[in-house]
Amino acid sequence: MTTTLTERDVLNALKGVKDPDIGRDLVDLGMIKDVRITENTVALTVNLTTPACPLKAQIEREVRTALETRLPAGLTFQITLTADVRGKGVSESGDIPGVKNVIAVGSGKGGVGKSTMAAVIAHGLRSYGSKVGLVDADVYGPSVPHLVGATGRPMAIGDRIQPIETAGLKIMSMGFLLEPDRAVIMRGPMLHGIMNQFLRQVDWGTLDYLVIDLPPGTGDVPLTLSQSLPLTGAVVVCTPQEVALLDASRAIAMFRQLKVPVLGMIENMAFFDVLAYLRERGGPEAKRIVEGRSSFDAPGDERVYLFGRGGARRKAAQLGVPFLGEVPLNIGIREDGDHGKIDHVFDAGSPSRPYLMALVEQLAAQISIQNLKTPKMPKLEVIG
Ligand SMILES: Nc1ncnc2c1ncn2[C@@H]1O[C@H](COP(=O)(O)OP(=O)(O)OP(=O)(O)O)[C@@H](O)[C@H]1O
Ligand SMILES: [Mg+2]
Repeated sequence: MTTTLTERDVLNALKGVKDPDIGRDLVDLGMIKDVRITENTVALTVNLTTPACPLKAQIEREVRTALETRLPAGLTFQITLTADVRGKGVSESGDIPGVKNVIAVGSGKGGVGKSTMAAVIAHGLRSYGSKVGLVDADVYGPSVPHLVGATGRPMAIGDRIQPIETAGLKIMSMGFLLEPDRAVIMRGPMLHGIMNQFLRQVDWGTLDYLVIDLPPGTGDVPLTLSQSLPLTGAVVVCTPQEVALLDASRAIAMFRQLKVPVLGMIENMAFFDVLAYLRERGGPEAKRIVEGRSSFDAPGDERVYLFGRGGARRKAAQLGVPFLGEVPLNIGIREDGDHGKIDHVFDAGSPSRPYLMALVEQLAAQISIQNLKTPKMPKLEVIG
């Protein structure tokens, strides 16, 4: 019955099944691979654009439904999901060879959690199996080594600097090059030189994502970065209060001026979950009262909106920027960062884990969208 079925029939059956984030046919995007047809089975692979794809299950369901409704009855379908991160960096002259995506994490205001979010994003993407690097571009106040518990001095092999590898991440920071308690005093051109070295002279190898933690504000570093290489995009971290939102708008305006796509906004310290706190850290009496109550599924009175409610989400909508998610103010995030174990926020049972996973997935999706939406312009040749 199925002997006449061909690969073309299978691909035709999948016409109209789209990647929901990118909004284009899976077939046209080249995401359907390895179609194998035997007597009673059709096997194929859907090659996603990121292993952190938030809509994996939906895509698989829609592919299966299309096959089941459009191909002859009685067949068994085997769908395998794989992922290859797309990116513009590879083999482009002037970019960093081998690095597919470069993502800058910035903010207007200081102290809103950029470095923490940059490290969280790096670890989150890595936890899905991607190869990830993390650059601390805050040369004046490097905090990445402390957050991820990285120590050591980067060695050079030939003229290539070897990044420090910790907990599966490749890391470069001014913090590795300074004596503790020494301050960095540097002018613009030196800063430019250091940033360029961090990006181009470090042996990053093959990376799906290189995350860059920026210093606060709209100063020299983002400018020099965006001039040094084509960034995939920038993430703006913000807390919900007005003063932070004002500065975040300025950061977004700066990235737009520098022609850096804004991948989205994160609302950090969005609320404090009193129930979660008491359940985890309260005394015996508090624990007895909150026992068995869950607040992640049914958020309500137990949330305290210390800095105001939903400010960053509204600002994102107003500025036409994707909203990547909210991160609660959680004592564990601060402690894990202070202890150099920020990856522990992803441990099973960590109250921040669901929020952070969702955030990482939304960001991974925006990176994929960015890569497929704006294919890089061919280089113009000047004639004459
Ligand atoms: N969601 C959160 N819950 C609890 N503590 C947090 C959260 N996000 C960040 N922090 C804490 O807030 C402090 C500031 O965070 P971080 O250093 O990441 O901010 P930053 O924006 O990088 O600061 P700077 O502008 O100085 O570079 C840290 O002690 C960090 O642990
Ligand atoms: Mg910082």
